[in-house]
Amino acid sequence: MTTNTIQSTATENRLFTPSVNWSATAAIPDMAAYKALCDEAANDYEGFWARLARENLTWHTPFTQVLDESNAPFYQWFADGRLNASYNCLDRHVEAGRGDKVAIRFESDNGEVTLVTYSNLLSRVNKMANVLKSLGVQKGDRVMIYLPMSIEGVTAMQACARIGAIHSVVFGGFSAKALNDRIVDTGASLIITADEQARGGKNLPLKDNVDEALALGDCESVRHVLVNIRTHGSISFREGFDLHLEPLLARQSDQCEPVWVEAEHPLFILYTSGSTGTPKGVQHSTGGYLLWATQTMKWTFDIKPNDVFWCTADIGWITGHTYVCYGPLSAGATQIVFEGIPTYPNASRFWKMIESHRCSIFHTAPTAIRALNKSSEMDESVHPKNFDLSSLRIMGSVGEPINPEAWMWYYKNVGGERCPIVDTFWQTETGGNMIAPMPAATPLMPGSCTMPLPGIMTAIVDETGHDVENGQGGLLVVKRPWPSMLRNVWGNPQRYKSGYFPEELGGTYYLAGDGAMRYVDTTYFQIMGRIDDILNVSGHRLGTMEVESALVSHHLVAEAAVVGRPDDVSGEAICAFVVLKRTLPKGAEALEIAKELRNWVGQEIGPIAKPKDIRFGDNLPKTRSGKIMRRLLRSIAKGEEISQDTSTLENPAILEQLKQAL
Ligand code: PRX
Repeated sequence: MTTNTIQSTATENRLFTPSVNWSATAAIPDMAAYKALCDEAANDYEGFWARLARENLTWHTPFTQVLDESNAPFYQWFADGRLNASYNCLDRHVEAGRGDKVAIRFESDNGEVTLVTYSNLLSRVNKMANVLKSLGVQKGDRVMIYLPMSIEGVTAMQACARIGAIHSVVFGGFSAKALNDRIVDTGASLIITADEQARGGKNLPLKDNVDEALALGDCESVRHVLVNIRTHGSISFREGFDLHLEPLLARQSDQCEPVWVEAEHPLFILYTSGSTGTPKGVQHSTGGYLLWATQTMKWTFDIKPNDVFWCTADIGWITGHTYVCYGPLSAGATQIVFEGIPTYPNASRFWKMIESHRCSIFHTAPTAIRALNKSSEMDESVHPKNFDLSSLRIMGSVGEPINPEAWMWYYKNVGGERCPIVDTFWQTETGGNMIAPMPAATPLMPGSCTMPLPGIMTAIVDETGHDVENGQGGLLVVKRPWPSMLRNVWGNPQRYKSGYFPEELGGTYYLAGDGAMRYVDTTYFQIMGRIDDILNVSGHRLGTMEVESALVSHHLVAEAAVVGRPDDVSGEAICAFVVLKRTLPKGAEALEIAKELRNWVGQEIGPIAKPKDIRFGDNLPKTRSGKIMRRLLRSIAKGEEISQDTSTLENPAILEQLKQAL
């Protein structure tokens, strides 16, 4: 934990207040309403959350307890209440007469559209839940979901929730090795996958990766692999163990009584990178998580019955959990689910889809905005101005800091200076938005996620847990537990406690792991990046340690150090400094080895983890006590002059060698 690198970089002071013609009906119509909610939370914290939990969710057994802090930081919310997440996402809308409303407008990679109503989604979920039950899956069992963006993906997650099974979705771009790690850690009894996924006109393997993951060993817990046929690609099939999903679904009834689980029952485990060790299984609850997924749809996205909501995140990430699978459905919204990628068949795909689906709320990542901005500069025909984007009223940004230039481009060219941008700061661990503008109320500042949502007690503190002055950088913390926070690291309570609630800060503040500062004039938050060894590449979170471990597991590699450097499109790019178990390669040979190592990392973790730059050296810059000086490596990766003191280096000459790009 270090704050000494955090300095204010803030120079932004433009404020934008798009005049929207829907503010009168907005959930939070103005700053007075926002402030009233914040005051309510400050005056009666438990009463505030209890009210929201009653208003947003349908409880089978109403709760009488709100927050239980007796075993802090293992907090419990609404512990004696019972509910079911899939009931809240589906049945309650059907029971209220909204069964014919479209829940999902699915668009496939090649542009086919399938509409699924709430009634239809409910029967799909019930059939899938009955399949799971027929295979012996019970409450508390873990089910891995390794599926593309699809109706089946959402259905599988909801079906697990319906019977109280705990899902763990693995992003389809992760490798067999990453999948194996997660199967072993969760002890999953079932894997749901597809033959292949269709992305950008290509078919990519999924079932083959599952076979490979199982062959890596320690997967005795897995009893079956359920396979959905998407592309009819050729796959191997172990009779009796591998099962085709479709014929099993056809046999099942479309009725399935939900299992009423305790509010604290784990809804899912989602793996994310930490600064040390293997990825951690972030465990979320049912009641608290679903409450915030629903409430933030209303506050941050101002969801209304006629909206067409579109969050472009994959269900393999937390954004896809909260703002594809759970939030929009619990809020009873119509949403777009998209199988493909933003650049296929060309870089106007998003704009074309906003036009054809009449999308009103569009939520994506800065990396996509930057890439599409660049494409439209190179090719006028894919520029958003060629499309009718008048249906849009709110736009979101998530996953990484949005630089003011990208913000302005998005604001002007996509939103026509009419649509507020909600820059939402949050994390896998927080379950839902933490700091974000309220679209009808908060004046917007490019590059700032503005202010915390009502009830979220964020603060910026120094290394001893004391508040810092506005204008000063520090550690972003949340001072009070909130309902959608993670409940544990699966199977590793010690890692949960020491990683997120460090004793140095008093043991009860949640440490986000980001540096932040608040502007002096506006008290808006600016997120200044991770304080630990976590990288953010295109909004995807990766630990430097994970990439280093993958590199050193290659037979040629003796040692590796990985750092991030700024990148125009992906935000951050991975730069790896590698010492080989052989003489320093040169020219074509060096390029060849770098390519092999890149592919190796792709296989070990997934393509997103492939280093953009690889530099070879006879050694790494180390202090006399053997510690790698990463700060020097960061400067080299950025191509900066080295201004740091290098007098403690054991081997200063190595710096010149590492500066040589391949
Ligand atoms: O560093 C912050 C960055 O992404 C991290 C969380 O990553 P992950 O758990 O994968 O969740 C991403 C989607 C919620 C944070 O610690 N981050 C996320 N959103 C923003 C952000 N940084 C700046 N601004 C944001 N809006």
